[in-house]
Amino acid sequence: MIFITGITGILGEALVEKNEGRRRLGGIYLGDYEMNGRDRVKYASADVLDLDRVSTIFKNDDIDCVIHAAGIADTDKCEDEKYYKAAYASNVGGTEKMLSFAKKLGAKFVYISTNAVFDGAKAPYTEIDTPNPINRYGAMKSECEKMVKQNIKDYLIVRPILMYGLNNPNERMSFFTKIIEKLEKGKKINVVDDVFENPLLSYECGRLIWRLIDKDAFGIYHIAGKTILSRYEAARTIARVFRLDEGLINPVSSSFFKTIAPRPKNTSYDTSKIESELGIEPLGFEDGLRLLKMRIENREKVGEHERY
Ligand SMILES: NC(=O)c1ccc[n+]([C@@H]2O[C@H](COP(=O)([O-])OP(=O)(O)OC[C@H]3O[C@@H](n4cnc5c(N)ncnc54)[C@H](OP(=O)(O)O)[C@@H]3O)[C@@H](O)[C@H]2O)c1
Repeated sequence: MIFITGITGILGEALVEKNEGRRRLGGIYLGDYEMNGRDRVKYASADVLDLDRVSTIFKNDDIDCVIHAAGIADTDKCEDEKYYKAAYASNVGGTEKMLSFAKKLGAKFVYISTNAVFDGAKAPYTEIDTPNPINRYGAMKSECEKMVKQNIKDYLIVRPILMYGLNNPNERMSFFTKIIEKLEKGKKINVVDDVFENPLLSYECGRLIWRLIDKDAFGIYHIAGKTILSRYEAARTIARVFRLDEGLINPVSSSFFKTIAPRPKNTSYDTSKIESELGIEPLGFEDGLRLLKMRIENREKVGEHERY
């Protein structure tokens, strides 16, 4: 079995979906809600910090790979003094627990990290660039990466960039779903025009992580889309593709938002490593949005379309 922490999150959902029933999966999430079993997926509500419970639930499942994606990934929550302790326990403490779980089982360890480990000063970032986080979320994830490298031989660290995709209704909304929701209600929104990424379709991220696991990849991999653009440009593109009112989107600089964590300005990735090792071409942002639109409007059609 492949065991996934955070199996109901944006990435967890994408991993389940792009597995297409091929591998036996199990996974945990934190919330107090029921997940209906999908084909060959065993869901359980359990805290990453509660190793006894996790070990008991999965004791007969013959886990040979752990994908650790759970944690508090909300940048502002991690920065906030009120939540910092809990966020640190969930992210750093959770990684420590999951590493010991994987070690005991002799399982491969796949750690899901982030572009937030970089300071944003010298994009595009390659896998050999040195992390230098400028906020608490990035610092926690960077600390986890170090812990993974020091504690387990067979590791894979995947750093997805900003993901767009559909979130499970129990989960926090993505940048994409927030924009769609506000524009559909006709609300004006302020979006920063000085923060840049090459956004990644969550399902494409899931598909590429399975490709990396299948080829038994080792070390660090950056996964991103092809198009580098600001959040403002991304929001306008979303509006255009989904036929919503672009005029509701107002460009602002990061300094407009006073109370949130500092954001690195440009953490876009150089995707050469994944391109050459997997023989893929990253997906452009508009193309990804069109695929997502098809998925939303007519799920049956999506199955017939290319690899999605
Ligand atoms: N989303 C992005 O754009 C993005 C970009 C770069 C990197 N990443 C990384 O990708 C990973 C997945 O992110 P995501 O966006 O998919 O996250 P997400 O949508 O916020 O979901 C987080 C998942 O982790 C679970 N979880 C949280 N705390 C837990 C705990 N203590 N014990 C067990 N499960 C727990 C949640 O369960 P409940 O919902 O039930 O609480 C949920 O299933 C994270 O490591 C993040 O750093 C994400």
